[in-house]
Amino acid sequence: MDDDDRIADVDDVPADGTLLFTARDGFDETEVVLTRLDDERDRDDEGVVAWKNYCQHWTDVRLDKGSGATMRDGELLCEKHGATFRASDGECTHGPCEGATLDEVDVTVEDGGVYLADDRFGFDSVGPAADVDLSTGARIDFSGN
Ligand code: FES
Repeated sequence: MDDDDRIADVDDVPADGTLLFTARDGFDETEVVLTRLDDERDRDDEGVVAWKNYCQHWTDVRLDKGSGATMRDGELLCEKHGATFRASDGECTHGPCEGATLDEVDVTVEDGGVYLADDRFGFDSVGPAADVDLSTGARIDFSGN
């Protein structure tokens, strides 16, 4: 793998939260979250999965606002209206977008590192995209933000 595509060490990817990074397609930035599955038996990627960082209900709502998405029992939680997404396959199991699926981004694990392996993107940086509006506008989520 190309060192330019190395996102993080596998050990830096939490199983009880997410690691946020930014991928780039030309001038366009896309936020992506990495998480680690507790049960990695059926996968050849050491259980590391990556999803675009937005809810399937309102796609302007980020799951990880910069300090890790909330996770419960292997599911990512959208704090806006409480949708839950199974981390293993991205499917919404409960909430207003039940049955929808998070957009997956291909990553691979090699020599203890997680690499971006999606032809649509190049790795930019760990952390939020530079052009993200950190305010949440008029919409109020469960945390009051
Ligand atoms: S915006 Fe995520 S559940 Fe409504």
